[in-house]
Amino acid sequence: MAAHHDFLIALMVTSPFSCAASDGDARTTPGTASFAETSPALGDPLPGLTVSERARFAAGRDAFEEVESVSDGLGPVFNDVSCAACHLQGAIGGASARTVTRFGRVSGGAFDPLAELGGSLIQSQGIGPITSGGQTCDYVAERVPAQANVVAMRLTTPLFGLGLVDAVPDATLVALAARQAADSPATAGRVNLVSNVVTGTLTVGKLGWKAQVPSLAQFAADAYLNEMGITSPLFPHENCPGGDCKLLACDPTPDPEDDGTDTRAFADFMMLLAPPARSTTHGQTIPGERIFGQIGCAACHVPALTTGSSAIAALDRVTFAPYSDFLLHDMGMSGDGIAQGQAGVRDMRTAPLWGLRARGVFLHDGSATSATAAIVAHDGQGRAARDRFAALPAGQSKLVLAFLASL
Ligand code: HEC
Ligand code: HEC
Repeated sequence: MAAHHDFLIALMVTSPFSCAASDGDARTTPGTASFAETSPALGDPLPGLTVSERARFAAGRDAFEEVESVSDGLGPVFNDVSCAACHLQGAIGGASARTVTRFGRVSGGAFDPLAELGGSLIQSQGIGPITSGGQTCDYVAERVPAQANVVAMRLTTPLFGLGLVDAVPDATLVALAARQAADSPATAGRVNLVSNVVTGTLTVGKLGWKAQVPSLAQFAADAYLNEMGITSPLFPHENCPGGDCKLLACDPTPDPEDDGTDTRAFADFMMLLAPPARSTTHGQTIPGERIFGQIGCAACHVPALTTGSSAIAALDRVTFAPYSDFLLHDMGMSGDGIAQGQAGVRDMRTAPLWGLRARGVFLHDGSATSATAAIVAHDGQGRAARDRFAALPAGQSKLVLAFLASL
């Protein structure tokens, strides 16, 4: 009986998608729709993809899992050998407890990423000694230099649903920031305008703990270079190991090491990856969500956003529930001390709360091992909401936590 009921819901929900796609592709046949299609499991593609979009997703996931070697361009310094080595919790594309290290130097109130010493991101592995053109270079792991007075750990984030985030028009986030400034200046966020290597202009950053990257296409190439040491058309130059560019003399593989095939495949996979589905306890958590709104959490953890128009029907003007405004907020002492783009040392992007129940550790550095610990750590613009949460009678804070556990 229950299964039959699920099937009816599936048909009702998928029926708007059963018309022919604008690009002429056949959609998954409505008659064979399963419940899984409307309530995707972690790691599934977005519901309602065409056959060719599903094929792009599958090829993208293969590339995302592929282990690269030195002959593919890995290194000379790098953090790991595949995207999936870090992004795997729950399913390929997920988070993990893995962190990367950033460093820099703050003096006289200014942040210096110490780029000439290999900053701000550490590559924690090297490919070892390489002899090329009669010269030998020993590629070793980067270390935090003595000149650094800020060191920050950054936790791996989950990638589920980011195609929807990528498809939100910049103007939506600019307008949201303006509305917050008018309605609730004490908690208002702002956009991080960052260098977009595709457009060659400054555009709204949406991705990363500091909204430091504007698009999935750019993040794919950025991560290929900075996490794996593989150059591509968008980022054609190797990182100088430890900041010493002379060391690139022995780099065995000509740049760009990827002709754009891999980075496009990563972007396809991430773009078409479904958001985390709400848990089945969803209906019982409405009182908790109401309190979440009343104590001011939803001022930053915005329940719903809508994508712009997209050639991909599954991303076209879709309203989704990330519980984030993807804006920067001044988090006081709980900021990470690193500046990126227009994000200052105390600014952090509101962490989206969807998929929270599948996570083990929280906050940018993974320092919180429970949702409660993450809430208690809110400082700066998040402090008043934190204090209101702490002042709730136990019965009410339990409802808020039950709501968070349904995400
Ligand atoms: C060594 C571990 C590691 C590897 C390998 C890695 N990542 Fe990540 N990824 C991270 C961490 C840590 C973050 C958070 C970084 C930050 O914001 O500073 C992240 C963030 C991201 C984000 C932003 C997500 C968001 O929440 O906005 C994207 C997109 C991403 N990675 C894609 C990739 C792709 C594509 C690859 C392979 C080319 C890759 N990553 C390889 C650790 C890794
Ligand atoms: C002023 C904006 C703001 C308000 C208000 C706010 N948050 Fe946050 N929240 C953030 C930011 C920014 C982060 C990321 C902080 C970091 O990682 O350093 C975050 C992170 C979190 C996390 C951890 C998520 C993760 O992926 O690690 C949880 C859980 C959370 N907030 C819940 C709440 C709750 C519950 C409330 C209300 C009591 C609240 N927040 C109020 C901005 C806010």
